[in-house]
Amino acid sequence: MTASIVLDRVTKTYGGAPAVDDVSLEIGAGRFVTLLGPSGSGKTTLLMMIAGFVRPTAGRILADGRDITAEPPERRAFGMVFQGYALFPNMTVAENLAFPLTLRGRSKAAIAQDVARMLDIVHLSGLGGRYPRELSGGQQQRVALARALIFNPRVLLLDESLSALDKNLRAGLQEELRDLHARLGTTFVFVTHDQEEALSMSDEIFIVNKGRIVQSGSPKALYDRPRTRFVAGFLGRTNFVDGTVTARDGETLVYSAGGLSFRQRARDDAPAVAVGQPVLIGLRPETLRLGEAAGGAANSVPGTIDLVTYEGADYHVRATTPLGPLQAIVASGNGTPVPARGDRLTLAWGEDAAVVLADDR
Ligand SMILES: Nc1ncnc2c1ncn2[C@@H]1O[C@H](COP(=O)(O)OP(=O)(O)OP(=O)(O)O)[C@@H](O)[C@H]1O
Ligand SMILES: [Mg+2]
Repeated sequence: MTASIVLDRVTKTYGGAPAVDDVSLEIGAGRFVTLLGPSGSGKTTLLMMIAGFVRPTAGRILADGRDITAEPPERRAFGMVFQGYALFPNMTVAENLAFPLTLRGRSKAAIAQDVARMLDIVHLSGLGGRYPRELSGGQQQRVALARALIFNPRVLLLDESLSALDKNLRAGLQEELRDLHARLGTTFVFVTHDQEEALSMSDEIFIVNKGRIVQSGSPKALYDRPRTRFVAGFLGRTNFVDGTVTARDGETLVYSAGGLSFRQRARDDAPAVAVGQPVLIGLRPETLRLGEAAGGAANSVPGTIDLVTYEGADYHVRATTPLGPLQAIVASGNGTPVPARGDRLTLAWGEDAAVVLADDR
C-alpha cells in the first residue's frame, strides 16, 4: 500500500514570519524523496504538515488526490520516525512494536506474528524482550523504524532519522532503509541536512532554503546541473568563478576572469547573460585536470598547490591561481603522482565541464 502526496501552495507562518513559504510539490507513490536544506530552512515544518501535526496557514495537502489538509494525524496513518527515536522506555522492544497495532484493535495472535516479522526485517530477532535502554543507538533507531512500518503505512516520514549515529552504523542503516523501500514500495519522505546521504538515498531531492523549494530533481541532475550559487554550494563542493562576458560564439560564452579568457557552453536552461555583464561559473573539483600542460582542454590556468588533504580514496588539492584558490581532486592509488605543496602546474577543464549559475547570494 502506498500513496502519492501533493502540496499545493502551502504556507506556514509563525507570528507573521514564514517557516514554509508558498511551497508546491508532488511526491509520486512509492518514491523515495528527500527534503534537503540547511538548519531552519523549514524541512521539519514541511514534514509535520504532511503528517498532520502542523496545520498549514494557507494551501492544501492531498494524498492520492484527496484533500487531507484538515484531517488529523491518526486518520492519515502515516508512519513517522523522529530524530530522538521516541521509544517508550518502560515498554520492551516487542511491546513498543505492538503498540500501534494494539491501538488499531488487532488480535493478540496477529500482533505477535507481525512483531516477529518486523523484528526479522530490521534484523533484531531475539531482542524483543529487551528494554530500549538495553539497546545501542542504531538498534533503537531500527526499533523506531520497525514501529513506524508495522501497520503498513501508505507513507513513511523520516526526520533526520540517522543523524545521531556514527558513520558506519549510519551507512549500514542507509542501506537497510533503501532495501526496505525497495521491498515494501511505501512512499518515503526523508529529511536530512546531509548532502551525501541525500545523494545516495533518493529517487528525487527537493532543496529547501528559507521556506522555499529552490530546485528539485534526481540526485544526478541536481549535482550536474545546479541552477544557483546556493544549490551548487550546498550539494557537493564547487569552485565559484566570477567573470565578465566578453563575447558570444553561438552557444558558447567567452568570459574573462583574473585577466584570462575562458570558454563555457551555455545550455538552454542557463541564466541569460549579455556581453559586458557579470557571469558566475560553478566548477566541480573533480572536473579539473591537473598536469604540466593543458592537454587540449578549452580552458586552463596556471596554479601553485598550497594545500593537500589526504582523504583515503583521493587527495583534495587547493591551488592558488589567477582565479583565486581552486579546489581539485586527485585519485589516490592509481599511479598518479601525488601532488605536493609548492608544485606548479596547470589546471584545465573543458567548455562543458562547468555550469553557468544564477547568483542568488
Ligand atoms: N512552533 C514554532 N514556533 C515558532 N517558530 C517555529 C516553530 N517551528 C519552527 N519554527 C521556525 O520555522 C523555521 C523552520 O523551522 P524547521 O524546524 O522547519 O527547520 P528545519 O529545516 O527542520 O531545521 P533543522 O535542520 O535545524 O531541524 C525556523 O526559523 C524555526 O525557528
Ligand atoms: Mg528539523
